Amino acid sequence: MDPVRNPYAPGAGQRPPELAGRDGELSAFDVVLERIAHGRPERSLVLTGLRGVGKTVLLNQLRSAAIGRGWGTGKIEARPEQSLRRPVSSALHMALRELRHPDQDSMDAVLGVVKAFALRESTEAKVRDRWQPGIDVPAARGRADSGDMEIDLVELLSDAAGLAADVGKGIALFIDEMQDVQTPDVSAICAACHELSQQGAPLIVVGAGLPHLPAVLSASKSYSERLFRYLRIDRLDRAAADRALLAPAEREEVTFDPDALDALYAAADGYPYFVQAYGKVTWDLAAASPITAADVAMAAPVAEAELAVGFFGSRYDRATPAEREYMHAMAELGGPHGAAVATSDVAVSLGRKPASLSPARDSLIKKGLVYSAERGQIAFTVPHFGRYLLDHLD
Ligand SMILES: Nc1ncnc2c1ncn2[C@@H]1O[C@H](COP(=O)(O)OP(=O)(O)O)[C@@H](O)[C@H]1O
Ligand SMILES: [Mg+2]
Repeated sequence: MDPVRNPYAPGAGQRPPELAGRDGELSAFDVVLERIAHGRPERSLVLTGLRGVGKTVLLNQLRSAAIGRGWGTGKIEARPEQSLRRPVSSALHMALRELRHPDQDSMDAVLGVVKAFALRESTEAKVRDRWQPGIDVPAARGRADSGDMEIDLVELLSDAAGLAADVGKGIALFIDEMQDVQTPDVSAICAACHELSQQGAPLIVVGAGLPHLPAVLSASKSYSERLFRYLRIDRLDRAAADRALLAPAEREEVTFDPDALDALYAAADGYPYFVQAYGKVTWDLAAASPITAADVAMAAPVAEAELAVGFFGSRYDRATPAEREYMHAMAELGGPHGAAVATSDVAVSLGRKPASLSPARDSLIKKGLVYSAERGQIAFTVPHFGRYLLDHLD
């Protein structure tokens, strides 16, 4: 069928034509916004899940919901080698502008604090560079510029929240790939959330990250479990997966035979990325509506080949030979469903001492390819990665 009208959107962070199966999360977030706007205590939210389940697009949708209520919002994507100072200051700058505070002097005072916070980095960093935060007012002195991330973040966020409170709104700071935030910055975020919620300040952090993010947060501050509300973002159930395919198709006056939907659910296994990927190829290869099971049978190998290059291969390519060997052992032990395996079993199957494998395992965790599901256990962050490896043994 006409590829120009193909509605499906496989791709990291690609807005899906239909955000299926997330009504629970969206309405929970509405309650949070409403409560905070009324000065009620609320925990910050953290979305966790495997790659491709739709955390980033849900985070973007939550951000739209906050904007829709007149909140100031900003978003950052954490990277392992980067301090949060610059991204947080840009995100807050953006959030403050969205608030449209009527009093320019109050606004300028807080912008000066944002600038002071941002510029503090250049003295921390060995190399001074010419980066400027793009804020016209002079940097404040003695506020958010101590160089201690924890102190500075609390001061910065309290001042920003104060402006939001003036106009009866709030500020939401969204942090994607939150498991990659550097350790000192993680504890600063926890401390700031803790302090701000005690003050009843209208500011929340909404994070998204891999399944071990709760462990990262609680390793940093023991009270993090009480600070954040964790929402596990998972595969779509059958009804939601069908809706993700059917709703956009119906808008193009196209439909699917029931056994085509059976075949698509079997292939995509409810993972949103796969739903989009199989849906897209099936649409292109189908001759006419309704799309049939035969169309899906023809499309599935093509979609798989595309996923093997784009979704799996691009990640596999980032691993060193030793890391690949480690992952192949995991795949063999975990089977096609990619079950979590004991690190000690990986060592046994490779005939090595567990300690000698720690560097490979740690760097796979850093690269975001595997995570430690529980103590002593390891699993793939990418759904169906075990199956991919078993099918592509080198
Ligand atoms: N609720 C959903 N319904 C349908 N498709 C979705 C849904 N959530 C995500 N997708 C699709 O899944 C893919 C991966 O989404 P993304 O947010 O990048 O996942 P993650 O951030 O968890 O890796 C994208 O192509 C997106 O369009
Ligand atoms: Mg993402």
